Amino acid sequence: MKAFPEKFLWGGALAANQVEGAWQEDGKGVSTSDVQPQGVFGEVVERRPGDFGIKDVAIDFYHRYPQDIALFAEMGFGCLRVSIAWTRIFPRGDEQEPNEAGLAYYDRLFDELAKHGIKPMVTLSHYEMPWELVKNYGGWGSRELITFFERYARSVFTRFKNKVKLWLTFNEINMSLHAPMTGVGLAEDSSKTEIYQAIHHQLVASALVVKACREIVPDARIGNMLLGGLMYPLTCKPQDVLKTMQENRSWLFFGDVQCRGVYPGYMLRYFRDNGIEVKMTDADREALKNTVDFISFSYYLTGCVTADEEVNAKARGNILSMVPNPYLASSEWGWQIDPTGLRILLNELWDRYQKPLFIVENGLGAKDRLEADGTVHDDYRINYLNDHLVQVGEAIEDGVEVLGYTCWGPIDLVSASKAELSKRYGFIYVDRDDQGNGTLARTPKKSFYWYKEVIATRGASLKQ
Ligand code: BG6
Repeated sequence: MKAFPEKFLWGGALAANQVEGAWQEDGKGVSTSDVQPQGVFGEVVERRPGDFGIKDVAIDFYHRYPQDIALFAEMGFGCLRVSIAWTRIFPRGDEQEPNEAGLAYYDRLFDELAKHGIKPMVTLSHYEMPWELVKNYGGWGSRELITFFERYARSVFTRFKNKVKLWLTFNEINMSLHAPMTGVGLAEDSSKTEIYQAIHHQLVASALVVKACREIVPDARIGNMLLGGLMYPLTCKPQDVLKTMQENRSWLFFGDVQCRGVYPGYMLRYFRDNGIEVKMTDADREALKNTVDFISFSYYLTGCVTADEEVNAKARGNILSMVPNPYLASSEWGWQIDPTGLRILLNELWDRYQKPLFIVENGLGAKDRLEADGTVHDDYRINYLNDHLVQVGEAIEDGVEVLGYTCWGPIDLVSASKAELSKRYGFIYVDRDDQGNGTLARTPKKSFYWYKEVIATRGASLKQ
């Protein structure tokens, strides 16, 4: 392989609620993630003392981050994507002043990264928000959330302006369509109008925070974060192609607003056709004009779309109701593996927005086996990552501006969808199971040494 550009950032990505644990330490408030112990599609369970939640300890990154960062540094990371838990800074969400102990923790974390020359990329909200804001205000359904979120963002921009130069607003902002509690703090059975109104508030908040970032940290770059849900038509029937365009627009809509600063006409038509009324003020429209500097996205799988209702009915059982692609193999969790799709998606996003792109999540969740001699032979993960990175290289050759790649879960962590630790993504094995048993010891896997070489050679060691 031809080496990737020198400026390309290599690293990994984590989320606070999936790694930190310490869910009640140093004044942290309860988050929506804390009351969803079964994951982002799981039921909301008010916590009682003694209830078990795998995320309560997670992989104890809150206390073990120095050791973990040293391992990331050994692999040669230039960048680590983390998120700040909103509830560590504003435990209830509506306070006037931030929690100093929460800010101090992230100070220590960013200092540790700086010691190793690793640039932090920080997501302001990754699948969690203060639970009190859901109970007392109705989540993002309330316009007041815009003020609270902006206050939180301004506090962390001000505190960390000398330490963090890469920011993201909301993780997978389009996920609210599938998991409203996780995305916008709304009940799963909320109406379309309620969900899109909450999304609108979040889009306005995202834009206002972009503006605040420019004021407070003028030398930073701030991006959005999309779940890159590329869909293909199942057949070349024009009806399938049209429906595919509509499906892709259902998530590209978020990117359109965040990159172009206005609601696209197709979305206004969708609202009209479906009786969805979203209240928007002139001030909102003005705020939305603060567009992002770059686009970041996650990429795991692709799916197919058909206008054939019988085929759709059969597909409804699977996670995002996607029709399977007969040409692709699947992971143990049924996610279809499609490296070429990553090149297609990079090209499509570049053609559409002409803004730099950052792949901030990609990886293979698999069941690993720790051998008696302390090794993990995860060749399946190496193959998956190799093939995806080769396609990133192809997209760069196509002329796409790609800023970097942070693979998901460089150390095993709690999965988002079902809160499992047995679904492992890491280069580093963590000794803990789904019931919370284990020593939490860290062991590099075979992929650890593979990724180290990829980074050292800037991709030249990848196999085409
Ligand atoms: C993305 C999320 O949807 O996918 C991560 O941003 C998540 O938080 C990742 O962990 C993989 O999903 P899962 O369910 O395998 O953890």
